[in-house]
Amino acid sequence: MTARLLPGKPVADRVLADVTARADALRARGVTPSLATILVGDDDASAGYIRIKQKQAAELGIDSPHTHLPQDATQERLVAAIRGYNDDPAVHGLLIQYPVPGHLDYDAALAEMDPDKDVDGMHPMNMGRLAVGLPGPLPCTPAGIEELLAFHEIPVSGREVVILGRGATLGRPLAMLLAQKRPTANAAVTVVHTGVPDWDRYTRRAEILIAAAGVPGIIQPEHVKPGATVIGGGVRYSGKRLLPDVDESCAEVAGAITPRVGGVGPTTVAMLFRNVITAAEKATK
Ligand SMILES: NC(=O)c1ccc[n+]([C@@H]2O[C@H](COP(=O)([O-])OP(=O)(O)OC[C@H]3O[C@@H](n4cnc5c(N)ncnc54)[C@H](OP(=O)(O)O)[C@@H]3O)[C@@H](O)[C@H]2O)c1
Repeated sequence: MTARLLPGKPVADRVLADVTARADALRARGVTPSLATILVGDDDASAGYIRIKQKQAAELGIDSPHTHLPQDATQERLVAAIRGYNDDPAVHGLLIQYPVPGHLDYDAALAEMDPDKDVDGMHPMNMGRLAVGLPGPLPCTPAGIEELLAFHEIPVSGREVVILGRGATLGRPLAMLLAQKRPTANAAVTVVHTGVPDWDRYTRRAEILIAAAGVPGIIQPEHVKPGATVIGGGVRYSGKRLLPDVDESCAEVAGAITPRVGGVGPTTVAMLFRNVITAAEKATK
């Protein structure tokens, strides 16, 4: 058996078409949506990620003011940049490119951000909103996975979802999201991690298995129930080479699977811009 592929690009295209229409509507009433970014230091990869986001913002009609702080910037300087954007009504979304240099406290900086401008959905207030089911910016990768499953008409409601990994960016918020009472969620969710040495006992019974560990090749065909849907969220980079959690041979066992490249990544970026537009609408309604 070879699994049906679940590419992220058509999902992202649909989300971004909606973002474009909403950006047009905002501009028609004199509001230019704006995503500000802060980069600290000279990491080439991080600078590249910022450029990609700025290019995409321009294509969507979104402004992208940027602050580049030097490698040795102090925490105070980073916080001052954040507060500047917090206080600027023309800025609707704000992103601190991760990682920051080791002498800086990323979590403390994130906590300084206006939660309503936190388009990564990672501020503790937004995690709390997600936990209690209040509206707020959703973490982009988990929200993108829900969208991807819905787009490809993989039923989630009432089904058994197992997530490998309980990290703050992916596994934990995804578990909260997919357990919510909503037609595209509403699942029986189990989260496994290093504290569950026999985690494959759980993954082998999952109807939907989501890898969120960041351990290349950790998911092998023997960990997958025949016919299951497998979503590869966890990745690691070796230089520019992407090393996914899900071994490609899982496609021989799964019923549906995200491609090695172009699965969850494009949906993550689309969700970021959806958060920007939603923030702009909320701030200016
Ligand atoms: N595709 C995208 O756009 C995108 C976006 C964001 C993140 N990601 C990826 O998603 C992954 C997870 O991100 P994160 O920040 O949530 O990661 P994280 O905080 O590092 O969490 C990793 C989780 O995986 C578990 N784990 C690691 N090795 C394991 C093993 N051998 N057996 C069982 N469980 C294991 C850990 O268990 P313990 O808790 O017990 O340590 C932890 O819960 C990363 O690879 C990241 O690159 C991808």
